[in-house]
Amino acid sequence: MDLGINGKKAIVCASSKGLGKASAMALAREGVDVWICARHREALERTADEIAAAGGGKVQALVADVTTGQGRDQLLAACPEPDILVNNAGGPPPGDFRDWDQQDWFDAINANMFSAIDMIRRCLDGMTGRGFGRIVNITSVAVKMPVSVLGLSNGARAGLTGFVSGIAREPAQHNVTINNLLPGYVATDRMWSVLESNAQASGLDQAAHRESFFSKIGARRPGDPDEFGAVCAFLCSQQAAYITAQNILMDGGLYPGTF
Ligand SMILES: NC(=O)c1ccc[n+]([C@@H]2O[C@H](COP(=O)([O-])OP(=O)(O)OC[C@H]3O[C@@H](n4cnc5c(N)ncnc54)[C@H](OP(=O)(O)O)[C@@H]3O)[C@@H](O)[C@H]2O)c1
Repeated sequence: MDLGINGKKAIVCASSKGLGKASAMALAREGVDVWICARHREALERTADEIAAAGGGKVQALVADVTTGQGRDQLLAACPEPDILVNNAGGPPPGDFRDWDQQDWFDAINANMFSAIDMIRRCLDGMTGRGFGRIVNITSVAVKMPVSVLGLSNGARAGLTGFVSGIAREPAQHNVTINNLLPGYVATDRMWSVLESNAQASGLDQAAHRESFFSKIGARRPGDPDEFGAVCAFLCSQQAAYITAQNILMDGGLYPGTF
């Protein structure tokens, strides 16, 4: 299917690896010019080369921390009029909520709530003025199905989700949509590190823990980042103009509820 976004411009935050990278790759394959970023140069440049080698849209890589005002300034200076914005940042560390102080909470809220809100604030009116915009926030299945050791993530992402729900309907009249894409367990560095810490907490060895863990997922396997990227690209497509303010699970059937 041609997603009808050839020639559009996309900022994909936190995208040298994992879900951000897969989203940038899927968009570039559709002919979208992508601006990618990460804090560490080496992996970022490797990813930029991979995206360029795959053909499609142009890629520009910026060493930038999306959780800082300066990092977001850099992104928007490089791509001042994005048609597509994929918000993403590293996830907060797991742990016991009894150990988290005010700074831990401020860091999580800054990375996984405020950074996305600030990017939306700075991009939305331009998109509505130009009559096209697609915003996808990468959140987590934890929004619907909290994981006890990921309390910082559960809390900060729930805040972003509530905020997005309040603003995501009005812009649809201007062909601008805002949706959240909720990964369950998609095979990235981050996923393997979360599984490892869960295994340690449960006292099981890695292999036994993985087997028992994946048996709880309908698909009986972790997701492939390319599957995630493809769904992200679809949400950015012309065809997805009538999908907004949604929380779309990408979890292979992990979440057990009806809604
Ligand atoms: N994978 C899953 O199954 C899953 C499930 C639920 C939620 N999530 C959430 O989805 C997000 C992405 O996860 P992932 O699995 O793709 O993680 P990942 O494989 O660890 O990749 C994270 C990417 O983000 C970049 N990054 C991190 N912090 C950044 C910052 N402050 N500014 C700019 N770039 C930054 C990293 O590069 P640098 O380190 O060089 O900056 C890297 O490119 C995380 O918030 C994670 O918690 C993932």
